[in-house]
Amino acid sequence: MDTVIVTGGASGIGAAIVRLAAAQGLRPVVWDLSPTDGGLVVDVRDPLQIEAALEATGPARYLVNNAGPASGGAPLGFGDGLVATAGSVEAVTAAWLRTGPPADAAVVNVASVAGNLVGTDSAWYSAGKAAIAGYTRHLATRLAPAVRANAVAPGFIDTPRMAGFGETPLGRDLIARNPMRRAGRPEDVAAAVLFLLSPSAAYINGVLLPVDGGWTVSQ
Ligand SMILES: NC(=O)c1ccc[n+]([C@@H]2O[C@H](COP(=O)([O-])OP(=O)(O)OC[C@H]3O[C@@H](n4cnc5c(N)ncnc54)[C@H](O)[C@@H]3O)[C@@H](O)[C@H]2O)c1
Repeated sequence: MDTVIVTGGASGIGAAIVRLAAAQGLRPVVWDLSPTDGGLVVDVRDPLQIEAALEATGPARYLVNNAGPASGGAPLGFGDGLVATAGSVEAVTAAWLRTGPPADAAVVNVASVAGNLVGTDSAWYSAGKAAIAGYTRHLATRLAPAVRANAVAPGFIDTPRMAGFGETPLGRDLIARNPMRRAGRPEDVAAAVLFLLSPSAAYINGVLLPVDGGWTVSQ
């Protein structure tokens, strides 16, 4: 049974990835600040905790870098924001690669439409998500064919961190201007992530796949 590490797997998009991975016969291992049944409590900003978690997880063919702070969460300086958003993705990925993942390994990073097209109020969120997209292209260029690397760019997804946003004037406006006329569901993103990890995506490497209902192409 192939193992998939899912950072931030205790909530929202990460939890949906965990559910779908298990349904598809993978062994998901959650790495999160919050404890989960069978998961590991890990702060992905901390190299020592990453090393300990890799040891506890064992060999993993797949990695999903999904954890990251909310744009509108606790205020962060630019450097700390970049480390929490993109630096942690690099730290986890580099440590995972040092373990020598099995053949046909794959990583999917969770970026955001805020990384390629949208500006955010916080200085670091858009910059950090853009950095994740760039880092994904670096991985795709340097690691294939042993490891494929792709990213997803979710639009507005209805997760705990976005609770109530859909009812605000801005949230309502975003939904009204979305061709699908609804917010995304965590399961919408999970399906894209599991596809990109899977052998069905064997020749897909280095893409940034929007999962936004067509919002970014329709503005
Ligand atoms: N919800 C959206 O609209 C949206 C849109 C675009 C991108 N994203 C991205 O999707 C990812 C998941 O977001 P979500 O909406 O599911 O959020 P969420 O808040 O529901 O879940 C995030 C999870 O990540 C964990 N986490 C945060 N920092 C961590 C750290 N340093 N170490 C370990 N775990 C950590 C949290 O504990 C939480 O369980 C994030 O990277 C987010 O930026 C979300």
